[in-house]
Order: sequence, then C-alpha cells, then structure tokens
Amino acid sequence: MSRLPLIIDCDPGVDDAVALLLAFASPELEVLAVTTVAGNVPGHRTQRNARMIRQIAGREDVPVHGGAERPLKRPPAHAGEFHGPEGLGDLQPFEPAGIIGDGPAANAIVDLVMKRPAGEVSIAMMGPMTNLALAMKRERRLAERLGTVVVMGGARSEGGNVTASAEFNVWADPDAAAVVFGSGCEVVCLGLDATHQVRATEARIRAIETIRTEPARTAAAMLRFSQRVERTVVGWEAAPLHDPCTIAWLLRPDLFQLRPCRIEVETSSELTRGHTAVEFRVDPATARHRWAVGVDADGVFDLITGALTPAEDGR
Ligand code: RIB
Ligand code: CA
Repeated sequence: MSRLPLIIDCDPGVDDAVALLLAFASPELEVLAVTTVAGNVPGHRTQRNARMIRQIAGREDVPVHGGAERPLKRPPAHAGEFHGPEGLGDLQPFEPAGIIGDGPAANAIVDLVMKRPAGEVSIAMMGPMTNLALAMKRERRLAERLGTVVVMGGARSEGGNVTASAEFNVWADPDAAAVVFGSGCEVVCLGLDATHQVRATEARIRAIETIRTEPARTAAAMLRFSQRVERTVVGWEAAPLHDPCTIAWLLRPDLFQLRPCRIEVETSSELTRGHTAVEFRVDPATARHRWAVGVDADGVFDLITGALTPAEDGR
C-alpha cells in the first residue's frame, strides 16, 4: 500500500484530538509531523495536548512541533468553553513522554515539503492557519510544492459559529487564511456547511465506547464532553464533529461532495471579519479551491469506529 505523506496542523481541542486518533490509527497515512498552533487554547497547551494524544495513540514516532502563539496580526482568541480550560475536555493533563520536534512549526512545514517531490506532501489544517501562512512567507515556492491543503474552516450557507458570518479557525486569524487561500495552492475546504452535517449522536458515541482500547476510550470521552457542551451551551442534542472530516476526506474522498470555487476572506471589517466568500461561478478546469457541500456522516463515523477497532477484533 502506498501511504499518503501528511502533515497535521492543529490546535487540540477535543475534535482535533479525535482527528489525531483517527490519523494515527490509519496505516494509509504517513504522518510526517504534527504541528500545533494557538487556537482553542493557548499554544503551550495545544502543543502539550498533541503530545498527550500522540502518547495515548502509541505514536511517539511522529514529531510534534510547537508553532505560532498568536495570529499574524490579530490578538490571540481562544474557545475554552467548547474544549475546557486545558483543551481536551475533562481529560486529566499529564506531562507527555515523547520528544518535542526540532524547530518551530513553520520551519518544519517548509523542510518536510521542500525535501520531497512537488505535490507529494499534503497538509490537514485544523486550527487557525498561522503556521502555514508563516511557512509560505518564509518559502515562496511552498504553495506550488504542496500537495492538497485540506482545511477545516469557513462558513457559507450555514453561517458562522463565532460570529454570524465567520467560523472560528478563519475568524481567529483571517490574515493567515487570506494568505493560504490567496497562495495558489490546491485547497479542499470542509467548512461548516459540511461539518454541521456530521454530528456525534448518542448511537455514534456508544459505538466508539464499545471499543476497549485507550485511544477509543479517549475519543469517546472527547465526544461525551462535546455532547455535554453542545446541550448546555448551544442547546442542541449532538455536537458537530469538525476536524476529523479533514482526515476522513483524505482517507475516503468519496464520502464528500465538493464544488469548485474561489474562496476569499474578509480581513478588515470588524462586523464580517473572517467571513469566507465562497464563489461557485468559476471555471472548474482552473479553479484551485473546492468547497464541501455534502457528506455521508454515517460513512465518516464508520471510518472512525473502524480505524479505532483493533485488527484482532475484526477491523
Ligand atoms: O469551528 C470549528 C473549528 O474551530 C475546529 O477546528 C475546532 O477545533 C476549533 O478549532
Ligand atoms: Ca481545531
């Protein structure tokens, strides 16, 4: 099996954690590195959290590089009410054993992409896009050398989740998002129009709770925490599962319906900061962006449950 070389940039975060557990359990992916960014919680916690999840998954072979502590221009913004003050719900923090990767995230992204053939290394973006924007500023050839940039971010038909018109990852660092979307790289964008269709229902959480491994127990605990927050803070029954959709697309793109488009980001207006203007009136032959309009949610959860089920249990 040829494995897909992948960098994961994230701000763990409970849904980032589930995405990491899915990726670490998927032999189809060659996870070259995890890079972390301030977002859901401050940067030192997202880096520690990524190392905690790596240890739980038994994947200390994967380097974790800490990255940007703040957006390119905007002040730091966090989402602790949805992820808990430590960032991983009610999972008790511990000091992870694994090493911290040499050098900051942006440098690691540049080094890993530039030393491989053009188009070979994809990157899954699950937080504010500060690290990738910094990497693109450092290495002007990066955008043309990258493979697919799979972004969890953006809002169109669904409206926003942090303001009426903006989704958190793009809102937190709209300037970085504008750099990435304006770079000419190929982007598959899984915004709220897709991720709001992928909800962790009671039945889906229970299916993961039947798996007797620490990664599955950890994933289920993250989903239970999100379920409680969704019911108490948002008033909805089942929480959307955002970040694992990036990994699910890489593993099973057939589970998603995409439309060619051009995505631009509002960076100056305070009212609509971080809004993603998704324009479908483009030439499909030359469009560099695709926006997810549909998803097989059962398929995504079957993928997660299957990946977390040990081989000896019939996976
Ligand atoms: O809007 C959802 C996104 O913001 C997810 O990546 C979640 O982890 C938060 O970072
Ligand atoms: Ca995230």
